[in-house]
Amino acid sequence: MKPTWSPDSWRRSEARHQPVWPDEADLDRARKSLRDLPPLVFAGEARTLTDQLAAVSRGEAFLLQAGDCAESFDSSADSIRDRLRVILQMAIVLTYSGGLPVVKVGRIAGQFAKPRSSPTETRDDTELPSFLGHLVNDVGFSEAERQPDPERLITAYNRAASTLNLLRAFTQGGYADLSQVSSWNREFVATSPAGQRYSQMAEDIDRALQFMTACGISSVNTPQLHHVDFFTSHEALVLDYEEALTRQDSLTGNWYDCSAHMLWVGERTRQLDGAHVEFLRGVENPLGVKIGPTATIDQVVGLCEALNPDRIPGRLTLITRMGADAVAERLPPLLRRVTDAEHPVVWVTDPMHGNTYTSESGRKTRHFDQVLAEISGFFDAHHRAGTIAGGVHVELTGDDVTECLGGSDELVDGDLEQRYETMCDPRLNGRQSVDLAFRVSELLRG
Ligand code: PEP
Ligand code: CO
Repeated sequence: MKPTWSPDSWRRSEARHQPVWPDEADLDRARKSLRDLPPLVFAGEARTLTDQLAAVSRGEAFLLQAGDCAESFDSSADSIRDRLRVILQMAIVLTYSGGLPVVKVGRIAGQFAKPRSSPTETRDDTELPSFLGHLVNDVGFSEAERQPDPERLITAYNRAASTLNLLRAFTQGGYADLSQVSSWNREFVATSPAGQRYSQMAEDIDRALQFMTACGISSVNTPQLHHVDFFTSHEALVLDYEEALTRQDSLTGNWYDCSAHMLWVGERTRQLDGAHVEFLRGVENPLGVKIGPTATIDQVVGLCEALNPDRIPGRLTLITRMGADAVAERLPPLLRRVTDAEHPVVWVTDPMHGNTYTSESGRKTRHFDQVLAEISGFFDAHHRAGTIAGGVHVELTGDDVTECLGGSDELVDGDLEQRYETMCDPRLNGRQSVDLAFRVSELLRG
């Protein structure tokens, strides 16, 4: 029998990748302020997402989880809208061409903390703390900017609240109305081959909508045509922040981490006896776990037992990120053993984090072909195992950046310097994202 869980029971276990805050009293003040603030999301919304993910686990829907690697406190409203727009574009492609309802979950409104491979970064002869995300410190390379500052926990809450407010307005207030599908195609996407394919699809959808309007079905009388469900998620990394936003639901008495609808534990912090697993096992939100190529079968089954002992469908999503070269070998044994253990997990592929490398010009990048190859290997493994390929988890931006190679306009190493803007990992731009959605929808159709 495990000891009882409480929002702070994680403090009895080793918590990796936590910031070293310079002043405990400042941290305590920030934690207290957070505890007094209203929840960002509501328990009922998290339960709705669990239900939708249960449908994904049965093959009745597909999960699109997407957004920035590290969100910035300085994101403009336009940049947030453009990120949402690309996700909506991808979702409509997957729904229309792939033929399944799409559950939309952003890496957004809280994706502010990053685990790093090294706690410090050295440039020339200067060694400073690594950038750990805007929740902790700043990206600039000076002592002042890299100093962890607990005041940022409050700023993160406020940024998450205003981002969420914007997302709720866009997704409920008419921007996401199905009649707007063609207007989502921004200039820099529309001129690409993927954008043209998208325009063609949007025309078909418009015609179908005209037909439905003539039959008496329109967004005026059908809410499903007028708004979309959109959920938030982030890596639950900095546990002081997550604990302070964890609340008891007045309806059920259960605990929810009200910082986002869905939380995941990263590849670097998923130790079975670690603080992150201890914290997450006690909150009722739908959970994700990143599973990299070194994960053993026993660890993965152990994580299923720890995080979903009651085998609730939709509760647990395993986000595999093996790398294009390893997926065919590493994934099938996991599919077999988790199925044998009768765990109803949602299987999702993250084709980004196992395919990152440094290009000749010295930029951290990913190649579109390898991203696609991992997705394809993921579908193939599920097809062979008779399990459900439930979704994709990608890092993208709506901005016209040049961070990942390849795609329909064939970005090459020399292009990377043009607009390489990420604070952490390289992201797909709008064109590459829409292109990817078409490729995934082909795999979905089989
Ligand atoms: C991430 O999703 O940004 C990340 C750090 O992933 P992982 O834990 O899979 O390395
Ligand atoms: Co990343």
